[in-house]
Amino acid sequence: MARVEGKVALVTGGASGIGLSSAKLLAKEGAKVVIGDFNIEGAREAFKEIEKEGGIASAIFLDASVEESIKEAVDFTVETYGKIDVLFNNVGLTNLQKDLDVVNMDLDEWDRLMTVNTKSVVIGSRYAIPHMQKAGGGSIINTTSMAAFASDGIRTAYGASKAAVAHLTKYIATQYGKDRIRCNAVAPGLILTPAAEKNLPKEVQDIFLKFNALPYNGEPDDIGYTVLFLASDESKYITGQTIKVEGGHYIGNPSIADFNAFMSKMQSN
Ligand SMILES: NC(=O)c1ccc[n+]([C@@H]2O[C@H](COP(=O)([O-])OP(=O)(O)OC[C@H]3O[C@@H](n4cnc5c(N)ncnc54)[C@H](O)[C@@H]3O)[C@@H](O)[C@H]2O)c1
Repeated sequence: MARVEGKVALVTGGASGIGLSSAKLLAKEGAKVVIGDFNIEGAREAFKEIEKEGGIASAIFLDASVEESIKEAVDFTVETYGKIDVLFNNVGLTNLQKDLDVVNMDLDEWDRLMTVNTKSVVIGSRYAIPHMQKAGGGSIINTTSMAAFASDGIRTAYGASKAAVAHLTKYIATQYGKDRIRCNAVAPGLILTPAAEKNLPKEVQDIFLKFNALPYNGEPDDIGYTVLFLASDESKYITGQTIKVEGGHYIGNPSIADFNAFMSKMQSN
């Protein structure tokens, strides 16, 4: 039997990158998938690709900054396929121009990122949970980020919004666990999605690579397979957790590269 056979999943931000990979893997493993995205053309292309490969999918316009739009996507999922077993709250934004350090950041951008990255998770969950309760359970999966755990010189709002998502994951897991609703998050490190490849110059990608424990950067399927696991019953005893998928980038002492350089200089003297 396929890993998520018979389940119904709504994937937000499913037209590209991590959401697209997850939508495709969920469909390949037997789920019926609704792709919600404000890039409706991209969402339609994605569902056509899934159908070409024998999967079952639909696309719906979803703007994660608008409550009614998120509700419509949840309702559409239930009306089309009869239930919602899996909600993947994946939409998230970052802004390298306006989301700066605390003194210089644009406060309107703070509000926008909190709305799109964090409030959308609350809203998606609050509309999906009653359906899951009625059906006897479900799995909510949220995309946070390693920026939730390690701070940076800029992207203050992004990091704070994603830290809130990681903590919110525990609240949802605690509040609805007895209804057999699990809630987990995935925290990607750098993942070479089309957007990341476009926005991050090769030099920046190489800096990440240099500090990874593994000798390569992440790809969308590295997150997609984690989402598939969390959506499936294989993870039925896991809830309230954030799985870090980051190539071992954050596991070592941050000074290790300079320390190694110092040691090799010592040894060559
Ligand atoms: N790529 C990385 O390195 C990385 C690292 C950590 C966390 N993340 C997180 O992963 C998630 C997905 O990122 P990605 O890299 O796949 O990005 P992406 O840009 O490839 O995909 C994001 C998708 O979300 C859609 N979207 C954006 N804003 C939306 C909105 N308001 N309403 C509806 N749809 C919207 C876009 O159209 C796009 O299809 C985000 O939450 C991001 O913060 C990514």
